[in-house]
Amino acid sequence: METKALRNSKIAGIGHYVPEKVVTNFDLEKIMDTTDAWIQERTGIKERRYFEEGKDTTANMGAKAAVKALEMAGLKPQDVDMIIFATLSPDYTFPGSGVLLQRELGLNNIPALDVRNQCSGFVYALSVGDQFIKTGMYNNVLVVGSEIHSSGLDFSTRGRAVSVIFGDGAGAAVLTPANNQETGILSTHLHAQGEFAEELAVIDPGSIKKERLTHQMIDEGSIYPYMNGSTVFKHAVQRFPEVINEALEANGYKPGDIDMLIPHQANLRITSFIQQKMGLPEDKVYSNIQRYGNTTAASVPIALSEAYSEGKIKKGDLVCLAAFGSGFTWASALIRW
Ligand code: UT7
Repeated sequence: METKALRNSKIAGIGHYVPEKVVTNFDLEKIMDTTDAWIQERTGIKERRYFEEGKDTTANMGAKAAVKALEMAGLKPQDVDMIIFATLSPDYTFPGSGVLLQRELGLNNIPALDVRNQCSGFVYALSVGDQFIKTGMYNNVLVVGSEIHSSGLDFSTRGRAVSVIFGDGAGAAVLTPANNQETGILSTHLHAQGEFAEELAVIDPGSIKKERLTHQMIDEGSIYPYMNGSTVFKHAVQRFPEVINEALEANGYKPGDIDMLIPHQANLRITSFIQQKMGLPEDKVYSNIQRYGNTTAASVPIALSEAYSEGKIKKGDLVCLAAFGSGFTWASALIRW
């Protein structure tokens, strides 16, 4: 029996927005026991952006990135058939930020789906959007990753191993049908291992405790992100190459065929490890963690948007997106641009 090939989706537009306020490692030195040298040596980060209360929100930063992505795609907000919003730092506990972004864009009735996959959130969301286009259900899907970390970090010395890493920002992509089966998103690959759920997590306030939020939780710091850094690091350097190779093999390619690898910006040491393990030259692996820190669900679309605007991604290039993080979850997408 002949099966009809499903249509590919492509990234028709990409955009990003970061808050204006730049916070350097030297700024952090003033509020906790840390040094610029430690942060740069262990993570590669020099500075990050922090939101301004009353101006930036997870949803409105996502909307600003979305407007740029739509402009590049030559579409108006009214053309969007569906919103998929990835974040671990939603404006409210509920509803999710997807409906708030829909409101920001002045849209009504179209679906707004929220994705909760932390650092892998954008690639998971992209994969969901891709499926809706493949099946023919929608034509224009807006995929957004946006985060405000800076209002949820422990800025005392107790929290320094985590708080120096994260930054705020947003990125967005517009998916539309590709012209043929050889271009656009060639495949996506998603994984999870809940066994490690608590190794990188914010535990409180959660629904499993009768009293969701107590003074004790605040005093003990369980309302802040916890990360078992070395365990996360160990799994990250294994899963990134694995999921990149999975995408290449699924499409009959080798690492040398990659024109641009956009990894989730977790740590410059992790990115360098991936680059060496994959045998790729430095200029084929994009890094901007130096300027933005780790922006979890926003990191891949911000990096993709910057790489594109710097002319580092051209028509016909083979682009690979890859992410790993809390869950653990990890994912990749291979794209013929
Ligand atoms: O995006 C999701 C995925 N996340 C990641 O992939 C992150 C993976 N993990 C990492 O990137 C690294 O584990 C970190 C950057 C988070 C930490 O680096 P590390 O080399 O694993 O350091 P460590 O936590 O083992 O700490 C080493 C030392 C400790 O001091 P002692 O016990 O050796 O005296 C820490 O107390 O560095 C100390 N330390 C700091 N010193 C100055 C921890 N944080 C800081 C800090 N400034 N900010």
